[in-house]
Amino acid sequence: MAETKKREKWGSKLGIILAVAGSAVGLGNFLRFPVQAANNGGGAFMIPYFVALLLMGLPLMWIEWTLGRFGGGFGHGTAPGIFHSMWSKNRFIKYFGIVGIFGPIVILIYYTYIESWLLGYAFFSLTGALGKVAGTDGMQAFLRGYQGIESNSHFSGIGTAYFFFIITFILNITVIYKGLKGGIEKFCTKALPVLFLLGIIIAARVLTLGTPDLEKPEWNLLNGLGFLWNPDFGRLLDARVWLAAAGQIFFTLSVGIGVILTYASYLDKSDDVVLSGVASSATNEFAEVILGGSIIIPAAFVFFGPGEIMNIAKSGSFNLGFVTMPLIFEKLWLGQFFSFLWFALLFLAGITSSISLAQPAVSFLEDEFSVSKRDAVLLFGTITFILCQPAVFLLANGVVDELDFWGGTFCLVLFATIETVLFSWVFGIDKAWEEIHHGAAMKIPKIYKFIVKYVTPVFLIVILASWFYQDGISTILMKNVPAANKPYVLMTRFMLFGMIALLGVFVNVAWRNRNKGLPAEGVKP
Ligand code: ALA
Repeated sequence: MAETKKREKWGSKLGIILAVAGSAVGLGNFLRFPVQAANNGGGAFMIPYFVALLLMGLPLMWIEWTLGRFGGGFGHGTAPGIFHSMWSKNRFIKYFGIVGIFGPIVILIYYTYIESWLLGYAFFSLTGALGKVAGTDGMQAFLRGYQGIESNSHFSGIGTAYFFFIITFILNITVIYKGLKGGIEKFCTKALPVLFLLGIIIAARVLTLGTPDLEKPEWNLLNGLGFLWNPDFGRLLDARVWLAAAGQIFFTLSVGIGVILTYASYLDKSDDVVLSGVASSATNEFAEVILGGSIIIPAAFVFFGPGEIMNIAKSGSFNLGFVTMPLIFEKLWLGQFFSFLWFALLFLAGITSSISLAQPAVSFLEDEFSVSKRDAVLLFGTITFILCQPAVFLLANGVVDELDFWGGTFCLVLFATIETVLFSWVFGIDKAWEEIHHGAAMKIPKIYKFIVKYVTPVFLIVILASWFYQDGISTILMKNVPAANKPYVLMTRFMLFGMIALLGVFVNVAWRNRNKGLPAEGVKP
């Protein structure tokens, strides 16, 4: 093994499990999951969901933990170096790794802004301003005013939202700056228990709602849970339901992004990745299925009834989180307080995810250019702050949707496909299997050797191909983008291309420098 410089280390095993779980538990668990389930067959959605978890989510967790730990042994914390360590004979593989730095930055530049709304809404819950807004139209106007999309009696201009955005951005950067152990680990070990406590309190409040309006006895909690969980098995024949379930698994577990690779690169070779992968996935699933499934949909059902719930579920996660939920809290005793807990919960869930999105780029600069943490964070912070601006100011022009599609959907599946094929086929499943089990306290069932080699890659390729067949061409040609938004969407694409090109140059320069000074690294596959 080539000599490597000293890298940071996690403080404890629990610390990294909570950091990975923190990355996984996010807005996806509390907002995206219940809406996906309600719109895709209710309880029946859980069949493709668990199939995707077992055949794709869990294998990808193990693959990413193992790839990260392996690459870390060569001093690499991000995909270009990790991929190169696994296939050192191939001159191009490092460039495929760019997806694992690009994807997290793209998600980060809109995720941080949305996260900052939660801080703003938590603040306005406490002051009582949110609780005074009347009706759905009023609440929607409040949100549009806050986002700077319109000037109204609530807000004139984007100043307030920008203020909370700056605070959120600085908070993220500060945690990253404080390092792995003193920043991310310390933050996640405090934030995750609080997050779970808040989730349990809010879920308990919703589950004890009973029948709030005695004149409408069918608007009760049991029917609300039934709306979400009663299975509609007929939907299982619809391929879109399977795609939606697979997409949810990716998003919620934070696999295919590149962040778990980076976190795991700071492990020791002897650290267990099998149990840690299971523990972080299980923590995420508890937050998603048990807590996420018990809050927004049942609460909306008991207050808005079976007629309206359909429209509410179809109106999307944002509407449910920022419009419907505050209206529900207005009807509860101590509603202002519960509204604050709700937005605080989402903010904590968001920030433990966004710091994980920032770490790959910072690790890349530290590992491949040997710059100090301070300089890496400063450079990263400055560039991403600039990149965030279109998401903030052009929210209404389709920019966030475009970023979300490429960063939050497409790149995930692409990156997962590359790393799975590399792991199982290039590195070789026998060696991969041995590598996974280094220091492992338990053995993975043998059937997974087959799954990781054949089923997971086929599953991923089918998802990519189905996407291309169903939406690929129309997405690339912007067929569904309103004419007025096309220039903004095009501009966003230029920005994304620019980012990829810049990362390509960075990788090229890093490897040139390395070749001048160091022998080639890695092992031969
Ligand atoms: N895994 C994170 C979430 O669920 C990104 O929001």
